[in-house]
Amino acid sequence: MDEFTYRDGSLWCEGVSLTSVANRFGTPTYVYSANTLIDHYRRFAKAFDAVNPLICFSAKALSNVHLLRLLGQEGAGIDAVSGGELHRATVAGIDPERTVLAGVGKSEDELRDAVRRKIRCINVESEAEVELLSRIAREEGERPRLAIRVNPDVAPDQRTPARTTTGTRGGKFGVDIERAAALFAHAAADRSLRIEGFHVHLGSPIFDPQVYATALDRLLGLVARLEAEGHRITTLNLGGGFPAEYVDRTAPSWDDFAEVIVHRLAGFRRGGGQVIFEPGRTIAANAGILLSTVRYLKQAGDQQLAVIDAGMTHLARAAMYDSYHFMWPVLPPAEAVPVSRDVSGLAGLTAYDVVGPICESSDYLARGRSLPVLAAGDHLAIFTAGAYGMTMTSNYNSQLRPAEVLVQGDQVTLVRRRETYADLVALELLDTSDHRDG
Ligand code: LLP
Repeated sequence: MDEFTYRDGSLWCEGVSLTSVANRFGTPTYVYSANTLIDHYRRFAKAFDAVNPLICFSAKALSNVHLLRLLGQEGAGIDAVSGGELHRATVAGIDPERTVLAGVGKSEDELRDAVRRKIRCINVESEAEVELLSRIAREEGERPRLAIRVNPDVAPDQRTPARTTTGTRGGKFGVDIERAAALFAHAAADRSLRIEGFHVHLGSPIFDPQVYATALDRLLGLVARLEAEGHRITTLNLGGGFPAEYVDRTAPSWDDFAEVIVHRLAGFRRGGGQVIFEPGRTIAANAGILLSTVRYLKQAGDQQLAVIDAGMTHLARAAMYDSYHFMWPVLPPAEAVPVSRDVSGLAGLTAYDVVGPICESSDYLARGRSLPVLAAGDHLAIFTAGAYGMTMTSNYNSQLRPAEVLVQGDQVTLVRRRETYADLVALELLDTSDHRDG
């Protein structure tokens, strides 16, 4: 279920018209549908029900504390990748028992923070990190639980961008699978640590369920080998990477993934093992849009350009990864009200390059995109922006970060106000006399 729908000729989020949101809060603004987010979480959980997983929502995809709290109320935990995200989890009221921490370069402070919070699992990514964690554990008088992030050397499918592929040999993430057993045994012998299992994250997004099957088979081989040596493995974390629909009907369903994953984990579950998932995109992407406004229309050579108020600082994905985001006017002409994202049959479309206001040639949100004829002042909705949208914004060009609005039914809540010029310089207005040398 995706609660951004055209009704009576204009775009609504649940029971709220997006024209009214744009008029009330201005643009660019991220708008989230609470019911879509909750529905996706519940349906993901249902698909994997048979393995009773701990589902730690990946906060890097969407980290607003109001939305994390909503997911927490549904039973979700948090996959954090920094002290900042651990802090967000705490503010959102997420139980440390449902919080995991990953990251290839955690600082000593971040690890100490996680140890003090007694979180469910710290996913370590190197031998050196195990040593550091062990020292911190002794200093703190704690016995943290950890898993080893393994690089299973599994190539993702062809549609996973190289820049978001994580589980292939030579990459920076995790420990090579052939060294993982030795590191496990080393950590198991360390009385200050509680080593529980393994973690993998293969890339994002992954469209082929078979990629998970291959990685899981390698992990289970590792588990069998260690169990034969007398070790007990109680946690297997399969990470995130499950896709979202950016176009229409191109992504496999959660059931398709469950079909290859669940039966492989039956034996592990019978032995009392805990399965963890860290989905981000698949839950959040279609629960949010970026609402923008057309500022200018202009001709550039043979191209029609629509210059809008949202650019790469507000939604980085197109400029960074050439990602496709469906976009459409909030109030299209009557003959161009879409019923799906396949708009090829609609009349009166024109090809636009959709660009933002940033001084960078890569600041394109779309090239040659078929859209209804646009006019300055039109509101344009950029879809599937709920994941890696707001979390990847920046202040480059001293742009202000967008507002975030949460809709549930006919209720609208401002969950993050738009930044102001005062916010832009707030951290710079220090008393510099304190910082002069000498
Ligand atoms: N777990 C770990 C350890 C991760 O590194 C990630 C994402 C996830 C879970 C969640 O993955 P998801 O379920 O959302 O696919 N900025 C890129 C995506 C980078 C993903 C980084 N890691 C984008 O906009 O496509």
